[in-house]
Amino acid sequence: MTQIQGSIAVVTGGASGIGRGIAEQLIAEGASVVIADLDADRVVEVANEIGATGVAVDVSDADSVSRLAEQVMAQFGRVDIVVNNAGVGPEGRMIDLTLDDWHWVMNVNFYGVVHGVHAFLPLLLKNVNGGHIVNTASMAVFLPLEGLGAYVASKMGVLGMSQVLHDELASDGSNVHVSVLPPGPVRTNIKNSLRHRPEGLGGNLTDVDLESNDAAADLRWIDPIDAGRIVTRAIRNNDFLAITHPEWWPLIDARNQVTQASFEKYPPAVYD
Ligand SMILES: NC(=O)c1ccc[n+]([C@@H]2O[C@H](COP(=O)([O-])OP(=O)(O)OC[C@H]3O[C@@H](n4cnc5c(N)ncnc54)[C@H](O)[C@@H]3O)[C@@H](O)[C@H]2O)c1
Repeated sequence: MTQIQGSIAVVTGGASGIGRGIAEQLIAEGASVVIADLDADRVVEVANEIGATGVAVDVSDADSVSRLAEQVMAQFGRVDIVVNNAGVGPEGRMIDLTLDDWHWVMNVNFYGVVHGVHAFLPLLLKNVNGGHIVNTASMAVFLPLEGLGAYVASKMGVLGMSQVLHDELASDGSNVHVSVLPPGPVRTNIKNSLRHRPEGLGGNLTDVDLESNDAAADLRWIDPIDAGRIVTRAIRNNDFLAITHPEWWPLIDARNQVTQASFEKYPPAVYD
């Protein structure tokens, strides 16, 4: 189990929304936190507001994430908790997506997590006390939504690689642990994701504001600090899944039953 009190934690996407909520909760529980974000001005402002260290990073760039890891090691000498949370959530139906659209979403949401694991896992494994990796996915991995094809693909990738990493570390008897945060609706700035799109990258993705959408009005929207509390609970209890909306299980179970029906439709070794 990873001790939060006195730990050194890194949170990507920490200048806004869920990342900021996680950082604030980690600080409240006694961690020293580095928030890292593409928004170079905002990350310093937020760091000053919440008592963290702010570092500019582009998680889609492996070298940028490696420099972040070097900076954390130079300043603190070790790292205990890494939260790969930075992400974008624009919308576009599959027929309209350009390859630039796909690359942007995959580079931030999927490769951003890969780069975080690649840069920080060796440092966590060298830490005699072990540590904890938290990767942010989405409830959409369990309940895929139309219009979010690239997003869902990126987040399913995060869930899949996190599960394998969790299992490999457990098989090795490692004291490095892995959790996934698959949030349901959280009030954040994800509705303004296009602001992070690299200049010169074309495409048809648009911002989607689910919070102001009548169809989503009845959903239970939570605040980022609550997502932060759910994440620290998962770290303290070493839970693989940090669930924000447990009441959604019947919807997920209904999808599982459709999958089960496919498995049961034909007996084994029957091909027509
Ligand atoms: N808000 C929700 O309802 C919700 C639901 C499911 C999953 N999520 C996930 O939660 C995570 C956080 O999103 P949020 O809702 O807090 O949105 P947000 O826009 O408030 O915060 C995302 C942060 O990531 C940063 N970022 C974007 N691209 C980056 C890059 N290339 N490198 C470094 N930082 C980058 C942004 O500057 C921003 O500060 C994302 O991975 C998102 O997919 C959010």
